Amino acid sequence: MADQTTESATGDRREPIVSQDPTEDAGPAAGPAPAAEGAPSVKHLHDPQAGATNGGSPGVPAPLHLVVRIRRYDPEADTVPHWEDYRVDAQPTDRVLDALHRIKWEQDGSLTFRRSCAHGVCGSDAVRINGRNRLACKTLVKDLDPAKPITVEPIKGLPLLKDLVVDMEPFLDSYKQVLPFLVAGGNPPTRERLQSQEQRQRYDDTTKCILCAACTTSCPVFWTDGQYFGPAAIVNAHRFIFDSRDTAATQRLSILNDREGVWRCRTTFNCTEACPRGIEVTKAISEVKQALVYGL
Ligand code: SF4
Ligand code: FES
Repeated sequence: MADQTTESATGDRREPIVSQDPTEDAGPAAGPAPAAEGAPSVKHLHDPQAGATNGGSPGVPAPLHLVVRIRRYDPEADTVPHWEDYRVDAQPTDRVLDALHRIKWEQDGSLTFRRSCAHGVCGSDAVRINGRNRLACKTLVKDLDPAKPITVEPIKGLPLLKDLVVDMEPFLDSYKQVLPFLVAGGNPPTRERLQSQEQRQRYDDTTKCILCAACTTSCPVFWTDGQYFGPAAIVNAHRFIFDSRDTAATQRLSILNDREGVWRCRTTFNCTEACPRGIEVTKAISEVKQALVYGL
């Protein structure tokens, strides 16, 4: 898994304008606690350019005037999460991650989120944007409706640590349990372990996983039963189960035949829709089920 950087509390927090939010919340918050459902939501408006006009420069696209609505939670100060609004000017080609950086660097240094590569490779910045799991670094603001606040909140079903950061350990524990590495028996060959193009193609899709957890944390079964292995663990088991060089497929299938394994999947396709790598997650889960029933 790629290295992750956690943005930590380093800056000043500007005094917000406080207003009651009559509309939120759109759904359950990340983690079993402390995200209390139905808790009163207080929205703070941070507006560094209140009263200013900005029509853009010649030759430069006019900036979009965004309101980014972020679900904030500081375990040292808050009992429940709340929403805060930030006004941000952004170019249409900016990503949501750019807006988060602007907010952190220019308005509130205490905003905490993960990111590392900023290019869709490390998988560390999966968040819920407008109610959908996405990578902040792969989501262009022009693809969202700039007339409405852009909501950003932590992914659901994992313990909330601070602001947009969740504890990934339960997710990684499931991943480790499916033996996500090549188990090649017998004596080492004198040359590399050969494989035909067809054999390699068999698991090509599931090699693309970046362990962002967008799939697992979009799964309603995982929300209600944190013991479920979840789509990402099954995808990574698939990657090796169907690798012709591997000799531990039976072992992995046995692990996933557990009551918390593949049979918990209800084929909602949330995982496939959430995957930023375009992996056919539901299909991979289905292929593992078929291997359990009909053999490899
Ligand atoms: S399968 Fe897709 S959504 Fe799930 S962890 Fe891997 S890259 Fe992320
Ligand atoms: S920051 Fe690495 S995937 Fe978004």
